[in-house]
Amino acid sequence: MKRFRQFRTDAATRDIYADIRISASDFIYPYFVVDGVNEIQPIKSLKGISRFSIDKLLIDLDETVRLGIDKILLFGVISTNLKDELGTEGYDPNSLICRAVRAIKKTFPTLQIFTDVCLCEYTSHGHCGLLDGERIDNDSSLPLLAKIALVHAQAGADFVAPSAMMDGQIEALKTILKIHQLPTKVLAYSAKYASNFYGPFREAAGSAPNFGDRKTYQMDYRTLHQGIDEIEADIKEGTDWVMVKPALAYLDIIQRAHQKFPEVPMTAYQVSGEYALLKNGAAAGLINEEQGFLESLTAIKRAGANFIITYYAKDFVRKGL
Ligand code: PBG
Repeated sequence: MKRFRQFRTDAATRDIYADIRISASDFIYPYFVVDGVNEIQPIKSLKGISRFSIDKLLIDLDETVRLGIDKILLFGVISTNLKDELGTEGYDPNSLICRAVRAIKKTFPTLQIFTDVCLCEYTSHGHCGLLDGERIDNDSSLPLLAKIALVHAQAGADFVAPSAMMDGQIEALKTILKIHQLPTKVLAYSAKYASNFYGPFREAAGSAPNFGDRKTYQMDYRTLHQGIDEIEADIKEGTDWVMVKPALAYLDIIQRAHQKFPEVPMTAYQVSGEYALLKNGAAAGLINEEQGFLESLTAIKRAGANFIITYYAKDFVRKGL
């Protein structure tokens, strides 16, 4: 008989045998930025998360940085009157996100800033690519996505993170960054599934499509090998980091991809629905919040994620987990 219970006799022994430990430097913390001043808008569907105007964001970042979180991901929440068919606001060098990046870099020069590069935040139809009638036109979306990445990079973003799931988007971004000799790296949302777990985000970012769904560009979760193929294609196109999104329902994809491409940093996105379910489950007294998050995030790292995007990052560190 093998005596496994010797590894579990008390807390100190269990700690010694723990293979996976999470720390602040594993996290990328998302922020929603709005125009204006003095704005802190709590997001109902994401308890504990708010949209901030740039001035208030800088104040919130004080705490984030003090907690040891050194990577953030920015989403722009754009007012409806600035949205159009072509997502013009997205590639304005003075866009909300560009202004936010410049302000943050000035105050926190070592903080690593990731920006979401997609058309859905900026287009009046709310789809991630350009429309030709009701069809998404993959190839004409590429130069616009590249232009969004370019203005973010010129503003000082450390990483641009294309999330539109257009074929060829990594090559388009890499090419424009190279032409302009910018050091900005690319975090590809490589295996991004058409998921039921994005609901709260769409409320937070005001980026829901106003007709149809995203199933013609985001991945079908019934596929098995395609996620790995998507990741491989992005690596061939030159991405620096890759991502699997959502995280918890896709641990198999994280693990397979990490084992196949161990040299490429793997990011997993614990998305808004995963966060909201745990938060609401805890509020209803069904689950211990801290332990629930600790277990989920540990599982994501155990599967092979090197970095985790999570709305829980600040709470995690604050609570000393
Ligand atoms: C789209 C984008 C989405 C999320 C991140 N970027 C929404 C979508 O693809 O429908 C979702 C993140 C989350 O749910 O936390 N640019």
